[in-house]
Amino acid sequence: MSKTSAFSGFYKLSLDERLRIVRDFAHLTDEEISLLQNTGSLPFDLADRMIENAVGSFPVPLGIAVNFLINKRDYLIPMAIEEPSVVAAASYAAKMAREGGGFQTTSTNPVMIGQIQVVGVKDPHRARIAIYNHKEDILKKANEQDPVLISVGGGAKDLEAKVIQTPVGPMLITELHVDCRDAMGANAVNTMAEAVAPLVERVTGGRVYLRIISNLATQRLARAYVTVPKESVGGEEVVEGIVQAYHFASADPYRAATHNKGILNGAIAVVIATCNDHRAIEAGAHAYAARSGHYTTLSSWETNDDGDLTGSIEMPMAVGTIGGAVRTHPIAKVALKILGVNSANELAEVIAAVGLAQNLAALRALAHEGIQRGHMQLHARNIAISAGATGELIDLVSEQMVQERKIRMDRAEEIIKKHGKTAR
Ligand code: MEV
Repeated sequence: MSKTSAFSGFYKLSLDERLRIVRDFAHLTDEEISLLQNTGSLPFDLADRMIENAVGSFPVPLGIAVNFLINKRDYLIPMAIEEPSVVAAASYAAKMAREGGGFQTTSTNPVMIGQIQVVGVKDPHRARIAIYNHKEDILKKANEQDPVLISVGGGAKDLEAKVIQTPVGPMLITELHVDCRDAMGANAVNTMAEAVAPLVERVTGGRVYLRIISNLATQRLARAYVTVPKESVGGEEVVEGIVQAYHFASADPYRAATHNKGILNGAIAVVIATCNDHRAIEAGAHAYAARSGHYTTLSSWETNDDGDLTGSIEMPMAVGTIGGAVRTHPIAKVALKILGVNSANELAEVIAAVGLAQNLAALRALAHEGIQRGHMQLHARNIAISAGATGELIDLVSEQMVQERKIRMDRAEEIIKKHGKTAR
């Protein structure tokens, strides 16, 4: 039987019911389910091995976004995030997208760039050519560092050299292009960059300082595309509002930063759930958005001949499914199992689709009813729970507070009392 990620009212289910659905979808074991239920901390010895000076761990809620159809395959999306509304918004956008056939995605090979900085070269343009003349030797030296990566088809595949002008004179920058396959690749790339440095110094006659990966991963891009029928979005006017919102962001960096923040709300929640390096993705996303010299959007929204909404996104996506914390963090392992991705490229594409979905949900809300209504509903639920509401009383108290536009602890306590329960 083919499985579906389309669920309406997933949020209304009890924790046990939600877990049962996720368990059946991803064939989770009892042990994996109890890991999810245990919202406590990481085993201390693991935390202590992951970072220095560990004193504990820091739990963040893990939600499941439903309805995602990507390249005709159903996905449940684990999202680790502290902000209310994000998981609900992603699920809602995925539902709209589903009505147009879901998301289509592609990606480049998983190639990262390792930079080697050479200074003190009198004739940097000659030295640049010398790097190309020794390309095979440099790549060979780089590839000697990681036989495992080579055995799975990765490794340093190419290099480039460029001369940049700086206030302290010209610098020659050599860039290794390393196919990292299913790893994020920072370790492999940094090791290679360090290993080739003496050879680069000999070839150029200069002095090498930095040898480090670039987070502007322009050779490792993920792309997603979606068509949403205008009826699913809420009609022509809402479609027009979304397109206008896109053009606003495209032209104005102040709006573009917030537009892209909406994309990252979705993308980063999946990056964190899989214990990938979210700082790398954020740095890469913003640098990519500014690559023309004008900071702009990572996504675009247009209409097609039928007046339906079409959206696309392209962004660097340096994520891995092996190595680093991805395979040591117990919840990240379960998150990857729930996603069911078979490669880092597939994970990167899913993340791009989630980013686009999140952006769609935000723009639709902004162009239509404003963002605050959804936020307020969730805020009201949180206040109701903090005031001591449980079970059905949570919805009752929060809905009344939203209607009255009085979303406050004292009001929540009054409503709870009125229904014969004692507030905390
Ligand atoms: C809030 O976390 C994200 C939004 O501001 C994104 C946007 O404005 O597009 C709603």
